[in-house]
Amino acid sequence: MIYPIVKFGNPVLDKPSEKVTVFDEELKKLTDDMFESMYAARGVGLAAPQIGIARRIAVIDVTFKEDPEAQLILINPEIIHKEGRHSQSEGCLSIPDFRENVSRAKVVTVRAQDLSGKLFEKTGEDLLARALLHETDHLNGKLYISHISALKRDLIKRKIRKLVKAGEW
Ligand code: NI
Repeated sequence: MIYPIVKFGNPVLDKPSEKVTVFDEELKKLTDDMFESMYAARGVGLAAPQIGIARRIAVIDVTFKEDPEAQLILINPEIIHKEGRHSQSEGCLSIPDFRENVSRAKVVTVRAQDLSGKLFEKTGEDLLARALLHETDHLNGKLYISHISALKRDLIKRKIRKLVKAGEW
């Protein structure tokens, strides 16, 4: 099932999501639907609050279907190590048609649970590091625009307000 993507302005994007405690078939189905919804929206990462579900679940595929082994499911993820610095253009499915350069760690290690509840660690560089940080941020109620200057952020917000008024958001 393809879920519509929740956009900036919806309060579900601003609050910390709830920890997952039950690892069952329903959770597996939800992550399948999240991959489907992410690919349909042409994204490489999606967090559950972006489909209106405030639970600590994220899916990532930085290869966008190229490599099935690159599919990553993160349940209750936590960033446990960050290294270096790297600035690159970044966007978000919940803030469509906007992009900004965001400075983030270059190498990142996340600790998360898999669909069976088993803990694992994953280290990523560059785009994967960025995706791990971006999606974990979502689960803490944080969007990438919180990492850019207030001036640029206000400009984006002003443009979005105009789009909302015009019924185009
Ligand atoms: Ni996002």
